[in-house]
Amino acid sequence: MRLDKLLANKGYGSRKDVKALIKKKKVSVNEKIVKDSSSHVNPENDSVKVNNEMVHYQAFVYIMMNKPPGYVSATVDARDKTVIDLLPDAYKRFNPFPVGRLDKDTEGLLLITNDGELGHSLTSPKKGIEKTYYADIEGHVTEEDVEQFERGIQLNDGYTAKPATLDILRAGRISQVHVILTEGKFHQVKRMFEAIGKKVVYLKRVQMGNLKLDSALDSGEFRELTNDEIDSLKNDVQKKS
Ligand code: URA
Repeated sequence: MRLDKLLANKGYGSRKDVKALIKKKKVSVNEKIVKDSSSHVNPENDSVKVNNEMVHYQAFVYIMMNKPPGYVSATVDARDKTVIDLLPDAYKRFNPFPVGRLDKDTEGLLLITNDGELGHSLTSPKKGIEKTYYADIEGHVTEEDVEQFERGIQLNDGYTAKPATLDILRAGRISQVHVILTEGKFHQVKRMFEAIGKKVVYLKRVQMGNLKLDSALDSGEFRELTNDEIDSLKNDVQKKS
């Protein structure tokens, strides 16, 4: 890849800034001072240094966000603020995208990455990766509802949802539940409850595959995944191949 692109990716500024660094003889590749910013390097094998400090190239970024309400799960939007707007430039440089859509008013676990292959697999209906939601439901959720979820609920567009798990945490005027889905149709949890005459009044995703929302993240906060978390997500996807 181009040296100036690699250094821009690592936060050394625009291509113009990188050109200036090179002009000042601050950049070396395999111990040789570089003269041309358009030269190419192999980020895996070449030793690139700026001011004598090694530059470690990172191709992918994996961010866990506790999505706040009021933001759309998109990279750009003409009207609304997006989850990408919450990230600092150091992450935006990777051109990351949210994996799967949470509605504007839905909160919780959102993976943001530029790893297209992993992102695609996690949302592919063929892989059937489990997504767990916590929800507050207006009305008494019953064992009959649990059975209906298990059988597969027909949505308002005629589609019959795959069997889903509904766990009642607390039944009451406002019931608290966990819902586990293996697919992600538009407004799916809300439409499943609508189909049985009940209303979702609060929705938060808490888990995707093996990845659990970190309870230390407040609404709107994010952090990079640990290597173990990345490996475990990749395992989830491989197991389903
Ligand atoms: N189901 C919904 O209805 N909304 C979401 O944001 C996610 C799942």
